[in-house]
Amino acid sequence: MSTNTTSAYSDFHLQFIAGEWQTGKDDSTNTNTNPYNGDTLVEIQQATKDQLNEAYNAATQAQEAWAKQTPAERAAVLYKVVNILDQRKEEIVDWLIKESGSTRIKAMVEFGATRAITLEAATFPNRVHGEIRPSNTPGKENFIYREPIGVVAVISPWNFPLHLTQRSIAPALALGNAVVLKPASDTPVTGGLLLAKVFEEAGLPKGLLNVVVGSGSEIGDAIVEHKASSFVSFTGSTSVGKHIGELANGGEHIKQVALELGGNSPFVVLKDADIDQTVKAAVFGKFLHQGQICMAINRIIVENEVYDEFVERFLSHVKTLQVGDPNDQGTAIGPIINEKQVQSLRDKIDEAQKEGAKMLLSGEINGQLVPPHVFTEVTREMDIAYNEIFGPLIGIIRAKNEEDALSIANDSMYGLSSAVFTADMQKGLRFARGIRAGMTHINDIPVNDESNVAFGGEKNSGIGRFNGEWVLEEFTRTHWISMQNEPREYPF
Ligand code: TAP
Repeated sequence: MSTNTTSAYSDFHLQFIAGEWQTGKDDSTNTNTNPYNGDTLVEIQQATKDQLNEAYNAATQAQEAWAKQTPAERAAVLYKVVNILDQRKEEIVDWLIKESGSTRIKAMVEFGATRAITLEAATFPNRVHGEIRPSNTPGKENFIYREPIGVVAVISPWNFPLHLTQRSIAPALALGNAVVLKPASDTPVTGGLLLAKVFEEAGLPKGLLNVVVGSGSEIGDAIVEHKASSFVSFTGSTSVGKHIGELANGGEHIKQVALELGGNSPFVVLKDADIDQTVKAAVFGKFLHQGQICMAINRIIVENEVYDEFVERFLSHVKTLQVGDPNDQGTAIGPIINEKQVQSLRDKIDEAQKEGAKMLLSGEINGQLVPPHVFTEVTREMDIAYNEIFGPLIGIIRAKNEEDALSIANDSMYGLSSAVFTADMQKGLRFARGIRAGMTHINDIPVNDESNVAFGGEKNSGIGRFNGEWVLEEFTRTHWISMQNEPREYPF
């Protein structure tokens, strides 16, 4: 009989810089709280810019030797990470619940996605390959090498902290890069420190992964602008993403950026859709993680003929959702991450009513628990339809016909994910191809992520792609090397 002797990780008040667990040296403190009950989980003294420098120096030094390790050696670390994640699954799920307000269901989904991208990344060291291209110059051979970028800066958000951090750092490390990571201030443990513990236990050489805890407004710019990194992988809001894009390519720098930003996913119900299945999908695709997902349904667009039936059945399903303690197996809707986000939802509820939307379902906001709010008579230009919600509120828009539904779906400055429900797959495919977005799911929710499939958005939802060979290309650079095998004739 095997006994589990693994003791839980501790000392999350320290930061992982240059391979050592250090106390932050800034005067400010991050008080990390449980969004459901307000308990303090850990107090972290934040990092100074000198400590950020130390992180970048260590990363720069460690990267060269790491890139020279064999693919098998780098892959072995990633496979070990997968094993450790499995061994510590309960501990990790527990942290996701208490730090990010994840329900058990969402924490399990996030754990699964994190495991999957780590496993995918473990294959990258052996999948990366160059090319030989023909030349029109006599005697020349063209080789395209694919090399590590060097040091990658990663800035991640609080909503799927473990997965959205790992989605950048696992491929980056697997491909021979070093990382300086800044997790979101609401989730420093699940967004960074916990993963640092896992990589350390897996034997990742010192200095390759650095986790610097500090507020975006204090050290964010310095992370982006630091001359040691030539690539910035940012996941978060469109406003901060635009700022980072400008910083990375302004002043003294031209840096590559990957920006995974906000979304406004349309969920389109065509008149021939199976309404039962559509309602189940709409409820899960809207309310998973309290709607705090960039791909979450942000607008439901229903063809006129089935609008009333859909609204009635949707409402009765939503009324069954349990709101409360995320640790309780039965809870569907847990707490909102912080008071600022709760206030933004209060403002959206007020604005929707002011603009003439009809509030069919509401409820009292209790601390950071926001019950579902459902609005009908919503039009495409209303705030609740046009802007990202990031919470358990939803507006349902009536479309005159399929063409109108497509026009409404495309009326957005975002283009991340989307969904269409219909009984006719050919119609669904035609509709899906008409949507300007990085991802569209026919007869499924817009919240989907597979570690081997291109993930990302367009328009204000960002640039770059994650997963599979797309992220493999993102986190490497090409280097054309030509070989002139015989003396070349020059014109002068
Ligand atoms: P943000 O406020 O943009 O925060 C994201 C990260 O950026 C955090 O680590 C934050 O640090 C940091 N940051 C803030 N200001 C910065 C600056 N000036 N320079 C550098 N970094 C800075 O977003 P959020 O509130 O965490 O997440 C919600 C938004 O992210 C939503 O719009 C959502 O759609 C989007 N999102 C998109 C995706 C994808 S995949 N497209 C995934 C998740 C979230 P602090 O926490 O310290 O402020």
